[in-house]
Amino acid sequence: MTFDDVSGTLDYPMVVVTTAAGDARSGCLVGFHTQSSIEPARYAFWLSRANHTFRVALLAEAFAVHFLSDQDRDLAVLFGTQSEDDVDKFEQCQWHPGPDGVPILDGCATWIAGRRHVALDDGGDHVCFIVTPTASNAATDHRPLMFSAVRDLEAGHDSSEPPQPDR
Ligand SMILES: Cc1cc2nc3c(=O)[nH]c(=O)nc-3n(C[C@H](O)[C@H](O)[C@H](O)COP(=O)(O)O)c2cc1C
Repeated sequence: MTFDDVSGTLDYPMVVVTTAAGDARSGCLVGFHTQSSIEPARYAFWLSRANHTFRVALLAEAFAVHFLSDQDRDLAVLFGTQSEDDVDKFEQCQWHPGPDGVPILDGCATWIAGRRHVALDDGGDHVCFIVTPTASNAATDHRPLMFSAVRDLEAGHDSSEPPQPDR
């Protein structure tokens, strides 16, 4: 048995992480994320070096984590299969500027906004960002969109791609 045999059996909720720095904004579908502290509250997510979102995140203080519901597959397709390197995803969905200017997706009622606490680069193909929540909203009847419902999607950037130069 290999590690892939084990990880292939796992299922977990999907989120869209958005971020903004200066005039730049970005966001992508993320499966690697978790609460990482209770007191103080912290939330962690891992961004692929290949993604446009990662390049904006390096310069950003403000982030939002949107917890997709089982009705949000369209947002998973938009943010998971398209890259901001090629398209303006924010022209294709409804959003508004939230705390510290970070984009909040109107179609997603359950989210947390936060400020960067730390970024941890362990040399892997994803880098860990940990945020301190500053604002949040929760739907009363949230039913998560699970990895098993989107595992067929082809990522806009494969994590094995070399990082893109800044454009
Ligand atoms: C099922 C699935 C899970 C993904 N999980 C992650 C993840 O945990 N972290 C990440 O950075 N990208 C993840 N991606 C890839 C990005 O969402 C995808 O490459 C996106 O198009 C990048 O957009 P960007 O270049 O505009 O940032 C995932 C994609 C899919 C389809």
